[in-house]
Amino acid sequence: MDPSTSVPFYPVVEFGPAMRGLAIGAVGIVHVFLAQFAIGGGMLLTYLQWRAGRGDDLARRFIGSFFKYLVLVSFVAGALTGVAMWLMTIQVGPRTIGLMVDEFHWVWATEWVCFFVEVVAGYTFLRVGDRLSDALRLRLLALYTGAAIASLFWINGILAWQLTPGDWVRTHDLWAGFWNPSFWPSLGYRLAVAATLAALAAILVVGTLELPRADRHRLVSVIARLMLPMLAMPVFGLWFMAVIPDDSRRWLTGGSVAMSMFLGIAAGATLLIGAYALVGLVWKHLYASGATAALLLALAFAATAAGEFVREGARKPYTVRGVLYSNAIAPDEVARLRRVGSVADDPYPLRDAARYPNPQLALGARVYRAQCSACHTLAGANALVELMGGWGLEQQRLNVAQLQRTKGFMPPFAGTAAEVEALVQLVRWEHGDALERAWPASDDPAALARIQAWLDEAGPFAAGAVAP
Ligand code: HEC
Repeated sequence: MDPSTSVPFYPVVEFGPAMRGLAIGAVGIVHVFLAQFAIGGGMLLTYLQWRAGRGDDLARRFIGSFFKYLVLVSFVAGALTGVAMWLMTIQVGPRTIGLMVDEFHWVWATEWVCFFVEVVAGYTFLRVGDRLSDALRLRLLALYTGAAIASLFWINGILAWQLTPGDWVRTHDLWAGFWNPSFWPSLGYRLAVAATLAALAAILVVGTLELPRADRHRLVSVIARLMLPMLAMPVFGLWFMAVIPDDSRRWLTGGSVAMSMFLGIAAGATLLIGAYALVGLVWKHLYASGATAALLLALAFAATAAGEFVREGARKPYTVRGVLYSNAIAPDEVARLRRVGSVADDPYPLRDAARYPNPQLALGARVYRAQCSACHTLAGANALVELMGGWGLEQQRLNVAQLQRTKGFMPPFAGTAAEVEALVQLVRWEHGDALERAWPASDDPAALARIQAWLDEAGPFAAGAVAP
């Protein structure tokens, strides 16, 4: 990207009290959960069909009842949330998604082909599976599973690239980006999660079957074996922690309490499920009721949600590490925006322009929208009014001017001293309880000079970044 050209602007969609990051997170977590279940479901069915071929009739009977759920969840809900992901990403992070499309167009096309094969294989099994020989059924399910794993394989490369783009940053070589440092630990971890989710859902289904208790018990014991890959999760988790950037790791391990807590929830919930599954079900051959399975699935959902939060959080202040900040400004554009202003070229009007008592506050609202709204709201989630409204005036100016020092996971402020002042005035105005009252514009040249000095002192780079 040529830093002398203008930054591209897109319309900004806001989601009321939820910040934009939360909105996409909510859809993303549901989608990831369903997609991983679909992959694990294929593994489980292939295993059970293999057993059926060797004379296990119970496994054969189970395949029929489980498959309907798998199809419903993975094809219908998976596809619905998949399209919703695209809709959300183009609204929340159009520049990021544009960069991903530019770089990984054919990877995405390949992933789509894999998904297509998965759907065709699955649908064929649903329609004619009953009439096929065991050998053919096994091949069809293996094809379904292979295609599902392959589609994860391709998308995983793109997602891992966002956090650890590796040599791609220098070379822009597609394969350097794809085979990036967190590719294998992410893939391994997700595959183990996929198998676990499917096993838990299958145990839930077992509880609904009209079978003698002894048969149900035997099925649960067989299905629980699919949770053995959980043993490898600590290895993949530690491997992941070892390859992510130093500053990300520091936030996860205490630098950011919120992120450490989510990491703790993800690890704790996974440990609980793992202990129950491996000790109780695999080793001691206990029976798990449908209710227990439902509880464990809920726990697994919490672990997935917390895990995705950790992955997204660890990327801050970037959406693509080192390449694009979360607010869609590229690192090499900051210096220019500090001269010309971050919203000088922004063509989109404010939806609520009439609210603001003076042009300075309206400018502040545009600056907030461009630079902060990806991770903050003014008065809802992660509210600026709450975080800084009570600070003293000079403290507000200093901390916004030196944003990357205020918290290392925020990008540097990418605008003029007048824009810092406008944003500070906006927050002060919103913080007051009489929003309608007249608000004098602040125009103290000495204050602007101080802000400029602070901007210059902190420099235009992220906290962890080295000046090029
Ligand atoms: C990459 C996401 C991101 C962006 C972009 C971002 N912030 Fe933040 N900011 C955060 C997070 C996360 C926190 C931590 C909130 C907490 O501690 O509860 C935070 C905290 C803050 C705080 C409180 C700091 C403290 O030490 O208490 C202020 C003030 C703040 N942000 C202002 C801003 C302003 C102004 C902008 C836009 C110019 C901005 N932020 C842009 C993510 C971001």
